[in-house]
Amino acid sequence: MRPYKAVLTVLVDDYTSTSGLLGEHGLSIHIELYTDNRIESILFDTGQSDKAIKHNSDVLGIDLESIKTVVLSHRHYDHTGGLLYIAKKFYDRNSRLIVVSHPWLFKPSLYISENRQSLDIGIPYTRQLLENYNTRFILVRAPLQVAPRTFYLGEIRRELDVSKYTQGFYTVLDTGELVPDNIPDDTGIALEVEGLGTIVIGGCSHSGIANIALQAARITNKRVHAVLGGFHMNKYSLEDIKETVRIFRDLGVEKVYAGHCTGPRAERILGELLGEKYVKMYSGMKLVFSQ
Ligand SMILES: [Fe+2]
Ligand SMILES: [Fe+2]
Repeated sequence: MRPYKAVLTVLVDDYTSTSGLLGEHGLSIHIELYTDNRIESILFDTGQSDKAIKHNSDVLGIDLESIKTVVLSHRHYDHTGGLLYIAKKFYDRNSRLIVVSHPWLFKPSLYISENRQSLDIGIPYTRQLLENYNTRFILVRAPLQVAPRTFYLGEIRRELDVSKYTQGFYTVLDTGELVPDNIPDDTGIALEVEGLGTIVIGGCSHSGIANIALQAARITNKRVHAVLGGFHMNKYSLEDIKETVRIFRDLGVEKVYAGHCTGPRAERILGELLGEKYVKMYSGMKLVFSQ
């Protein structure tokens, strides 16, 4: 059964233009899918902490306990930090939270800057702690359907080469060796709305938002109507930004909502290239997609 309507609410973004809501470096998007006999809710990413997701969902009247599944775009703290808050909510009412993500979810994640400062940017909780609160993990590399015509996209085929933009990211092997990390866990979610096409959401898009959109089109086999999320594009060459926009055009994209880590330079260029199709994302932004 295909959703005839999807309502997306940005619960956490770096920016907010709505008074009374919090901005936080991170991302969380609530997705409501309307089919003929039910409404299903899922959550894509959880923000950085319990602060913004709690405050903003309360103010916006979003019931986090009604979500069926949390899908995590990748293991960085600004997408996974709110997970414990949600797990505890489920635990308190004796139910079980299902989390879909990549097998690298608990792998160490470091960012080492040019002046050799090292930051731990991985998920801030152990698997054991989250499981103590009844959380059940489905960790997969392959795409997985998580709701009606809604897909966790799995490891992304990197047709546009984005390898130079993951420099500085490292992981630690089981042997203890520090090695470069191209963030293979980075992915997105795609949902298909009847008569409209596919909506694609990226978290940080370290795997390239163009690659995520291409994979979404392959999996849903539909025109891509809209792309949103954090695009992590500030270091992109102008050529790669233009190539991304060209791929969006080829896929039939009509709206691009850029937020979180997209970066001010990239946002300005995307705005110039996309014109009216470009919209800046913010905490509290609500989008209704229907035919
Ligand atoms: Fe991020
Ligand atoms: Fe990230």
